[in-house]
Amino acid sequence: MTSGIQVRDYTPTDLKQVEEIILTAENFGRDFLDHERRVVRFLHESPDTGRILVASEKATAEIVGYAAIRYGWRTLIIESIITEHNHLRLGIGRLMMDYIKQIGEDHPDMEIIRVDTGDFMDYAQTFYLACGFQISGFASHYLGWHNNQVIFVYRLKQAHSIKEGD
Ligand SMILES: CC(C)(COP(=O)(O)OP(=O)(O)OC[C@H]1O[C@@H](n2cnc3c(N)ncnc32)[C@H](O)[C@@H]1OP(=O)(O)O)[C@@H](O)C(=O)NCCC(=O)NCCS
Repeated sequence: MTSGIQVRDYTPTDLKQVEEIILTAENFGRDFLDHERRVVRFLHESPDTGRILVASEKATAEIVGYAAIRYGWRTLIIESIITEHNHLRLGIGRLMMDYIKQIGEDHPDMEIIRVDTGDFMDYAQTFYLACGFQISGFASHYLGWHNNQVIFVYRLKQAHSIKEGD
């Protein structure tokens, strides 16, 4: 179902379509768009700190997904992952996630992928579990988001043994 879709790095000409995807995503509003604009600008200008990815239709170049990732210490952090709302449940989120996992596998310093989501966002939690993530923590009264956050982790380089507490 996703054979006609490619994941690639964002370029500034994608901005308008990316903004539409962010604005029409469930649960997010205008202030989130302002925040995401800053994230996009920063990561684009500082590629050693992370990457902005888009999923686009090969035939039409329409952008149908967007993801922002950041390199933390040993941890690849997913800041955002959004599928365009008319293209949900077609495998695009999983395709972007597989691409992100490969970035993490290829990066010498990354040991895990981390993503947080609100405890009320059942569909996002189901998505992360379907992508092989495990729940590793819970932050109650996460003030900035005005809700409780569930922390999901995916362990990279599973072929190699990573010592606990290392
Ligand atoms: C979460 C999100 C990125 C998933 O993207 P998607 O392209 O629809 O996901 P996929 O089609 O690749 O789904 C992969 C699997 O995840 C699970 N899943 C995805 N969406 C789901 C939903 N709404 N309900 C239940 N399970 C879901 C399913 O197991 C699915 O496999 P299946 O369709 O074969 O059953 C998408 O719902 C989205 O953009 N939501 C709005 C933005 C958002 O909330 N992002 C996450 C912020 S924390």
